[in-house]
Amino acid sequence: MSANLLALASDVGRESADFVRRTRPAGRVDVAATKSSPTDAVTEIDRASEQLIRERILDLRPDDGFVGEEGRDILGTSGVEWIVDPIDGTVNFVYDIPCYAVSIAAAVDGTVEAGFVIDVPSREEWSAVRGEGSWRTDGDGQHRLTAPDPPVLGHLLVGTGFHYTREIRTKQAEAMARMLPQVRDIRRTGSAALNICDVAAGRLDVYVEQGLMPWDRAAAGLVATEAGLVLSGLDGEPDERLVMAAHPAISEEYFALVRACGF
Ligand code: IPD
Ligand code: CA
Repeated sequence: MSANLLALASDVGRESADFVRRTRPAGRVDVAATKSSPTDAVTEIDRASEQLIRERILDLRPDDGFVGEEGRDILGTSGVEWIVDPIDGTVNFVYDIPCYAVSIAAAVDGTVEAGFVIDVPSREEWSAVRGEGSWRTDGDGQHRLTAPDPPVLGHLLVGTGFHYTREIRTKQAEAMARMLPQVRDIRRTGSAALNICDVAAGRLDVYVEQGLMPWDRAAAGLVATEAGLVLSGLDGEPDERLVMAAHPAISEEYFALVRACGF
């Protein structure tokens, strides 16, 4: 069943990524509205991408539930729920920075079983099925993901992001100021979904972010755990308060550092 869910997520994700790529006008994209803060933007293309994904999935599976970043939640009856970010990295999309993705996860009875993330500009794909593994797909084919051994704590390259609301950003900045002298460096490239996949591929060593929503991390989280990484929150499962990802060889030490820094 999970393989079928991944197949549908991949088909619809690719179609939506094609739509976003084709529809994007040259230059800066107009912001249609703002959400949690004046800098939390949504464009008409975010909305249209979500509508396309919703229609495609619910046409084929009308009894499923649907939770998307830009629309009303639909409560299903089948036990399957789709968790969708129609464009993760909307600010990059607005500014024409080539780092934004479509992210689609399928949860069964509350557990994510399949996940698909596609980098829209590069077409690179990330996919996962619970218990079966995760893969990165590019022009050269499909590559099984196994998170590489991490460096020591002081050499970690940390992926992160900052929330749109002022209060959370202030706290994040203070915590990051404490962490920076203790690691190699940080990267903030603007798409949580792609950043979590990056850790699975060894393009980042670890990840930390506060304030992520389920659609930012559902699909990428499964890509990460199926690649052998540990995902954690403040006191258990990741949630809106905190998401951390690390290789098991360094996870305890790194998670302790994150907490000590005040995230
Ligand atoms: C955002 C991106 C960003 C992260 C923010 C998210 P959006 O999602 O994933 O990297 O730092 O917390 O809200 O708004 O571009 O879909
Ligand atoms: Ca997002």
